[in-house]
Amino acid sequence: MGDDVREVCVIGGSRYFGKRLILRLRDEGVNVTVVNRGSAPPPPGVTHLVADRDDEAALEAALGDRRFDVVIDQVCYTPRQAAIAKRVFRHRTSRYVMTSTMEVYDPATFDPAPLHQRPVGEDAVDPGTWPVDLELPWEEAAFKELVGEDWHYAEGKRQAEAVFSQDPAFAFVSVRSAHVLGGGAEEFTGRLDHYVDRVRAGRSVVVHAEEYPSTFIHDREIAEFLYWAAGADFTGPVNANSHGELSAAELSELVATGIGAARPAFLRAGQGDDVSPFSFDRYYAMDNSRATGLGFPFSAVTEWLPGAIAETGVRA
Ligand SMILES: NC(=O)c1ccc[n+]([C@@H]2O[C@H](COP(=O)([O-])OP(=O)(O)OC[C@H]3O[C@@H](n4cnc5c(N)ncnc54)[C@H](OP(=O)(O)O)[C@@H]3O)[C@@H](O)[C@H]2O)c1
Repeated sequence: MGDDVREVCVIGGSRYFGKRLILRLRDEGVNVTVVNRGSAPPPPGVTHLVADRDDEAALEAALGDRRFDVVIDQVCYTPRQAAIAKRVFRHRTSRYVMTSTMEVYDPATFDPAPLHQRPVGEDAVDPGTWPVDLELPWEEAAFKELVGEDWHYAEGKRQAEAVFSQDPAFAFVSVRSAHVLGGGAEEFTGRLDHYVDRVRAGRSVVVHAEEYPSTFIHDREIAEFLYWAAGADFTGPVNANSHGELSAAELSELVATGIGAARPAFLRAGQGDDVSPFSFDRYYAMDNSRATGLGFPFSAVTEWLPGAIAETGVRA
C-alpha cells in the first residue's frame, strides 16, 4: 500500500474475508473505518460506524465530514445500493473498490445464454454500457422469487457495477471474485464441508451428468487481492481467481486424497435435481490475465486446497 493511502473505509467487514481484509489494512498502518449495522464488534484499532447502507440519511449522518482515500464496498448487491453509495461517497473518496462476483458471467442469468468456450475475460460484461433499472423492486422477496435467486444476484451485481462505472465521480474498480474457499469455521456457507462430510461418510457426491469446471480463490488470497486493488491505480472490472480450474468431481477426488478417504462415488443428476455446490452444467470459469498483467501474483488452486480441506477437518 502506497503512502498516499492512509484512510480506508470498508462497508461490511464483519465476517470471513472481510474481517481478514480489515486486519490486513490495520496491520499495515492504514486508518480503517468499518461501516456496518453492528452485528459484531470490529477488531481493536479500527473505527466502527454503525449504519444501514440502505438508509442514505443514516449513512450520511454516521460518516459526518470523514474523507477517505479508498472505499472498499463488500456488500453492494443492487443498483439502488450503488446509487446511494455513489451520492454519499461522491465527495468523500477518490477511489471506490466494489467486491463483485464471477456470477456476473453466469450464462444461466442471460437470455440468450452466451456459450463460453474458453476462460471468460472482463470484457464479456461491460459495466460501462450495461443497462440499469433502478425502478425494479430489488428489495422485495416476491421479486427475488419471481426472477430467481441466481438472476437477482448476478443482475444486481452487474447493474451495481454499471451505476458506479457510468459516473466519473471517482475511480472505480469492480473485483469479480471466484468462489471463495478456506478459513475453516469462518467459511459460513459450508460448501467445502459438504464435500468433506460426504466423502468421509462414503456417500455419493451428486454432480451434473455433463459438468463443467469453475474457478476458485482462497480466503486469504481474495483479502490480499482487495488490499492490492485498493492501493493500485487501475480502474474497471478485474477477475480474481487462483490459477487452475476444478470440476466438482475433481474437487471431490482432491478432498478424498486430502482426508485419506476412499475414492468418491458420483451420482449423475438429471435436469432439475439438486446437485452439490460447484457442480455446473455451463462453463464460465474466469481468465485472470488482466490482474496477472497488472502484477498480482496469484497462487494455484492446488497449492492451497489441501490446507483448506485440512481446516474443514478441524471443524468436523
Ligand atoms: N463467498 C464467496 O464465495 C463469494 C464469491 C464471490 C463474491 N463474493 C462477494 O463477497 C462479498 C463479501 O461478502 P461477506 O458477506 O463475506 O462480506 P463482509 O465484508 O463480511 O460483510 C458482511 C457484513 O456486512 C454487513 N452488512 C450487510 N448488509 C448491510 C447493510 N445494509 N448496511 C450495513 N452493513 C451491512 C453485515 O454485518 P451487520 O449485520 O453488522 O450489518 C454482514 O455481516 C459479497 O459482495 C459477495 O457478493 C463472495
